[in-house]
Amino acid sequence: MSDFKGLRDYACWLQYEPLEGELLERYQGQFETIVVEEEGPLRGAIVSELQRGLGGLLGTEPRILGPGERDFETATIKVKRGFEEVLALGEEGYEIEVLAVEDELRVVITSLGCQGCLYGTFAFLRLLQTGEIKRSFRLRDYPRNQLRMINHWDNLDGSVERGYAGRSLFYENNELVPDLDRIRDYARLLASVGINRVAVNNVNVHAAETQLIASRLEMAETLASIFRKYGIRIFLSVNYASTLEFGLDTADPLDEGVRAWWKDQVKMVYERIPDLGGFLVKADSENRPGPFTYGRTQADGANMLGEALEPFGGLLIWRCFVYDCHQDWRDTKTDRARAAYDYFKPLDGQFRQNVILQIKNGPMDFQVREPVSPLFGAMEKTNQILELQITQEYTGQQRHLCYLVPQWKEILDFDTFAKGPGSTVANVVSSGLAAVVNVGNDPNWTGHTLAQANLYGYARLAWDPSLKAERITGEWIVLTFGRDPVVLNTLREMLLRSWEIYENYTTPLGIGWMCNPNHHYGPSVDGYEYSKWGTYHKANHQAIGVDRTVKSGTGFVGQYHPEVAARYESLEGCPEELLLFFHRVPYDYVLKTGKTLLQHIYDSHFLGVEQVEGLLASWRSLEGRIDEVTFSHVLARLEEQLEHAKEWRDVVNTYFYRISGIGDSQGRTIYD
Ligand code: GCU
Repeated sequence: MSDFKGLRDYACWLQYEPLEGELLERYQGQFETIVVEEEGPLRGAIVSELQRGLGGLLGTEPRILGPGERDFETATIKVKRGFEEVLALGEEGYEIEVLAVEDELRVVITSLGCQGCLYGTFAFLRLLQTGEIKRSFRLRDYPRNQLRMINHWDNLDGSVERGYAGRSLFYENNELVPDLDRIRDYARLLASVGINRVAVNNVNVHAAETQLIASRLEMAETLASIFRKYGIRIFLSVNYASTLEFGLDTADPLDEGVRAWWKDQVKMVYERIPDLGGFLVKADSENRPGPFTYGRTQADGANMLGEALEPFGGLLIWRCFVYDCHQDWRDTKTDRARAAYDYFKPLDGQFRQNVILQIKNGPMDFQVREPVSPLFGAMEKTNQILELQITQEYTGQQRHLCYLVPQWKEILDFDTFAKGPGSTVANVVSSGLAAVVNVGNDPNWTGHTLAQANLYGYARLAWDPSLKAERITGEWIVLTFGRDPVVLNTLREMLLRSWEIYENYTTPLGIGWMCNPNHHYGPSVDGYEYSKWGTYHKANHQAIGVDRTVKSGTGFVGQYHPEVAARYESLEGCPEELLLFFHRVPYDYVLKTGKTLLQHIYDSHFLGVEQVEGLLASWRSLEGRIDEVTFSHVLARLEEQLEHAKEWRDVVNTYFYRISGIGDSQGRTIYD
């Protein structure tokens, strides 16, 4: 056991600290006998969670009763399988019912499956802490998405691509880390919020990683056995062109030899990991190999792997992050935003049933603000899942507070109009969600302790996208920091506003990308302006932004359903937070606020910095109410955020002042 396991933040939202006040009064003396009738593979996890949770919250040591024991029939907590009454909730759904017999609360958790029994158990412990468990309480809940997936970008050498929380939890030096306990703790943490799939290696599968499939399969086997205890199935990211690494001379998806090789490999993998979820593939993307090399389509490539996985019930998840990353900035015809739709839309109907397309939320790459990818809802006959990024690559890298649940809510609630009004992204991607995770071997898992909220929030939204951001945030705070109303209100406000604050002092109005190349931290307004990545803002002395309209621009707007396209096509109708994504706009253009575009840029940058000062003041006001170690850690991060927000403000404002020659109407300092 490493020392940091004693650190408070290590327990994240599973603190189970003693309840106090009214809740303690309500629950004291309750829940002393437990019957877990559920006999499946997750029984151990259920029993130990109840003991741990109730032990921590109420200081009790509940007795676990077996059949025939005294009180068996009247146990105060019963976890059991049901059938008809919970059929509609599925294997992972559950019912929690609280009956009151005189003063005694009796909780019955029922599910069709062992998975649901586990989720019901975690939910019960959560609801105890939010105070919702009371007489006559009844909840029937189930996951709205079948796949609730985490993607690790962990390399076998222990590095983590876009990782901001230390090194890999899984690997070091091409071996599994010696401390498997930590991986067990991680599995428990993920299961507590309903995650059921984890891709355990980076989507960029380089030569060494390719070995996972064959020579080092025991590592995946061990990971699978740890996650399995919490009902989580692992996925492997595979190198599309693995055949080339193993002596074949082609990776043509239509080649018989290639197909046979994959079938053999898959069979071998399933012999050792029979519940493997399947493969995740990044092909023809950012210099990774793919079917294009052989003149084949994305569907040919995906189907070849899907076919091999099918006999074992495996899924093939194929990413749609396909674009030309060798663009010439002088080529004004090519628009990176169009790429995914242009490649994939024509293939609708050609993918096998067990193939799922994984689509990033926006058409670019996890910027602080982007429109929703037009691919959502564009392919009626194709399975789709949404890919989000929990790791804060472009949103402050866990050095800045940037709580992304409000952003994800906007994405999930976005109406694609694919089948008329109400075709929200959440409805369109009903097979699930995946997200690039933000954890590493830092003592608190996520680098910034408050970034734990992003992991929690993602999982809760994957379970039920209709949950309100306020609800999720409140839950996380109570579970992590307890029920002090001052902490609750202050921290909730800080979290819920932090995305907008980050946006204010970084990139304006949907333009994105004004960051330093490669590592993507800190401001560099022209950092991506003349590069091959297709990410241009095109600012000159008069105007900024990219015309993506059908009428006069790249035509990207035409990829949306007509109702959506009409809104984006018109300069006046376009939501202003995305204005510069869709339109090229002169600095003196007057926004709805009555300010010019340029003045808006200046104002939002000054405001953003003031708002970070506000975040700091809010956090300082919590001194004494938050554990000291956590308090100082977060304080230090916020102080750093303030310094870096000022850097963003000054670099961006100076840039626009220099090229426009127009100063701030309020005469504030802009350096020249
Ligand atoms: C971004 C990120 C890369 C990552 C890629 C992906 O471009 O910067 O590190 O590999 O996304 O999603 O595949």
